[in-house]
Amino acid sequence: MKNEYVLVLDFGGQYNQLIARRVRECNVYCEVKPYHIRLEEIKALDPKAIIFTGGPNSVYGEGAPRVEKELFELGVPILGICYGAQLMAYTLGGTVKSARDREYGKTEISYRPCPLFEGVEQQNICWMSHTDYVASLPEGFENYGYTQTCPNAAFGDFEKKLYAVQFHPEVMHTRQGTEILKNFLYRVAGCAGDWQMEAYAETAVKELREKIGGKKVLLALSGGVDSSVAAALLSRAVGKNLTCIFVDHGLMRKNEGDEVEAAFKDFDFNLVRVNAGEIFFGKLKGVVEPERKRKIIGEEFIRVFEREAKKIGAVDYLAQGTIYPDVIESGTGDAATIKSHHNVGGLPDYVDFKEIVEPLRSLFKDEVRALGKALGLPDHLVLRQPFPGPGLAVRIIGEITPEKTAILQDADAIFREEIAKGGLEGSISQYFAVLTDMRSVGVMGDARTYDYTLALRGVVTGDFMTAEWARIPYEILEKVSSRVVNEVGHINRVVYDITSKPPATIEWE
Ligand code: XMP
Repeated sequence: MKNEYVLVLDFGGQYNQLIARRVRECNVYCEVKPYHIRLEEIKALDPKAIIFTGGPNSVYGEGAPRVEKELFELGVPILGICYGAQLMAYTLGGTVKSARDREYGKTEISYRPCPLFEGVEQQNICWMSHTDYVASLPEGFENYGYTQTCPNAAFGDFEKKLYAVQFHPEVMHTRQGTEILKNFLYRVAGCAGDWQMEAYAETAVKELREKIGGKKVLLALSGGVDSSVAAALLSRAVGKNLTCIFVDHGLMRKNEGDEVEAAFKDFDFNLVRVNAGEIFFGKLKGVVEPERKRKIIGEEFIRVFEREAKKIGAVDYLAQGTIYPDVIESGTGDAATIKSHHNVGGLPDYVDFKEIVEPLRSLFKDEVRALGKALGLPDHLVLRQPFPGPGLAVRIIGEITPEKTAILQDADAIFREEIAKGGLEGSISQYFAVLTDMRSVGVMGDARTYDYTLALRGVVTGDFMTAEWARIPYEILEKVSSRVVNEVGHINRVVYDITSKPPATIEWE
């Protein structure tokens, strides 16, 4: 059975994938295509609805993206957003003008009754980002919303099911924005919402199979959410033609290397686990400076990967677990380039391959997690909290040794266990233990001890750019403290870090 299909026509806006994501959230399948695909192609796709995205152009500008007028005569409901709204008005005979000042940010808006705003509060807040505005509407169109500076902030032709909004309903700051998109999809376009993540997995697998065929793919598997989900997806698509290299640098959390390996034992691909702990510990010997540690680990990681890749020989594709937030500012399609991101720093230069595949490129983190679940990955992998690439190296202050690593692994495992027992896993964004290089005097039994201080860290955050220290109940902290001192050797004092970010960072190094 073919899913309901919504076509998002990309005019180069920064939020285009966000529109796609909101549509998927409404359980409707959609794809983003460049605005210049041919009318015949659009007809063949047989969309239930079309959404025009925003974009950086002015409709009167030289080379401004346009669409054919016939597109509006197909009888397919269309929603124009921002530039898309202006383009709709302009193409159908309205006028667009340039304002002196840009209208930007959260803006008060008044909506008028129409299917798009059913169940939506009349006096509301929307997110604006535009300079041009629609000054007069095409024939047959009515005004459905206005702000203080934008007379036609929403308008439409009820009969023809054509609607347009100058603001961005897809951006979180537009209150009830998802409601508005849902109204368009369900009330205007008559969608029923027949799409789930399982269906996405199926489509993605089919596309990867078609693209890769019988050729070879290589993936660096870190055990993090993104690379794990990419591995699961590719494995379903190409099976043994996929080889994953998992470099275990010996600085993973307790049992983590084995857990990663075990999670993939039923998947049908070649998994090469490189236990490179000795090499890493060797390189890190005597190093105490945090940035040096990070550099050494980053470089060594590439060396090990390169050596293993050479053994495998030339591959056709190098796969990466890049997700949408990694590319959002890198310039996509017609969007302006703000900043270039590199997901796996340096790797492509060292490996002999023809092309990169990034099967998660259009997904957001929570969608990646949902996809991982749909592909059968265990919760401990898909719900995993962020773990820094350099691993425990940035959680051991001072010189890193295998002994200190083992101490930290044991203490950290106790902390995690008690948090899970207390049912706090979902409410603390990230929590871990840090082995400081401070020693102090204690007394155990009747004897004096002179051992390490362990610090516990727990933070609550949405974006990891700022964070609050987590209010972990005293009883849990007490339990962790007593277990750590009793069960793990060489620690005689436990402290809890009560600094937020800023001024501290989440990790200690
Ligand atoms: P900080 O310590 O800067 O960390 O507050 C913010 C978030 O980023 C994670 N982090 C890293 N993740 N490679 C990563 O993949 C790294 O080198 C790295 N350093 C920090 C950290 O765990 C926290 O979630």
